[in-house]
Amino acid sequence: MTSSTPNSELTNQLSTFEKDILEGLETTPKKLSSKYFYDDEGSKLFQAIMNLPEYYLTRSEYEIFESHKQNFYQQFSKDTKAFNLIELGAGDGLKTQVLLSHFVEQNTSFSYRPIDISAEALHQLKMRFNKTIPSLDFEGIEGEYFEALAKLKTNSLQNEKVRNIVLFLGSNIGNFGNEQSLNFLTQLAQNLRKDDYLLLGFDLKKHPQIIKMAYDDANGVTKAFNINLLKRINRELDGNFNVEKFDFYSTYIPETGEVRSYIVSAAKQEVFLKKLNTTIQFEWGETIHTEISRKYSASDMKEITNEAGFEFIESYTDCKGYFMDMLLRVK
Ligand code: AVJ
Repeated sequence: MTSSTPNSELTNQLSTFEKDILEGLETTPKKLSSKYFYDDEGSKLFQAIMNLPEYYLTRSEYEIFESHKQNFYQQFSKDTKAFNLIELGAGDGLKTQVLLSHFVEQNTSFSYRPIDISAEALHQLKMRFNKTIPSLDFEGIEGEYFEALAKLKTNSLQNEKVRNIVLFLGSNIGNFGNEQSLNFLTQLAQNLRKDDYLLLGFDLKKHPQIIKMAYDDANGVTKAFNINLLKRINRELDGNFNVEKFDFYSTYIPETGEVRSYIVSAAKQEVFLKKLNTTIQFEWGETIHTEISRKYSASDMKEITNEAGFEFIESYTDCKGYFMDMLLRVK
């Protein structure tokens, strides 16, 4: 596959986003990172996905929180008077609100520190909780997970009497490759203190058909969510993707637990990215890999978290046994 190479002067001043997009479209097979799905439009589309009948994940985790909030409270407040809740990638906060409201009702002393790369997402969250839980001790932290954790660590996570509890929910861990998730969890454990907690929400392996449908919905919202990345590239890199000429394909592989998602070129075509002065060639049927959404069994996850430096405390599932939240303690 050929493409014109931008001169080095241009590549030097590229943003991370620009570099990643360029690199991903110039390698074979092509790939784009799902972390770039979430511009304003992409975040709205993900909201729509969470409301799809096929996308059971959010509803299952919501049910877990509703039915186990008392257990969470008992575990979180065991042998301590206060705790910090640190949420990685907070999203719209609807599920977390179930827990936060419950904790506020218990008159317990706790703080809520959501970490997100999107200032807009944090602002929305603050507005929501200002209304629904006005007494909440809320402070959003803008940044990448580990930068933000490091910031938090030097400021406010050092009080020995206060337990730190990291929430990593919604199967966000599924977007990591296998090795990546081990690295991530290892780093996370190293950034916390012994006996701090992690509440980890992940999607369970189950009948492949159920999983397949969750990532290939009848109304094409998941397709729109993927294609929006091309629109984003058009907007931000002055590209000329004809989005009508791109399709969507996803597949679930039971052996690895991976849903793999792709944008597919529906024609032999060329796309020009003006801001990068680069032409990308597409064959008919050529794929751009966009996302991995990995499913785990409970024992898969126990093994990985143990290797990463966590000890298993307890796990919770919804009544269908589709989704799991696992409570872990730093060893
Ligand atoms: C936000 C990463 C949990 O992988 O299930 C939904 C994103 N992608 N449909 C997931 C997503 C396609 C979602 N996560």
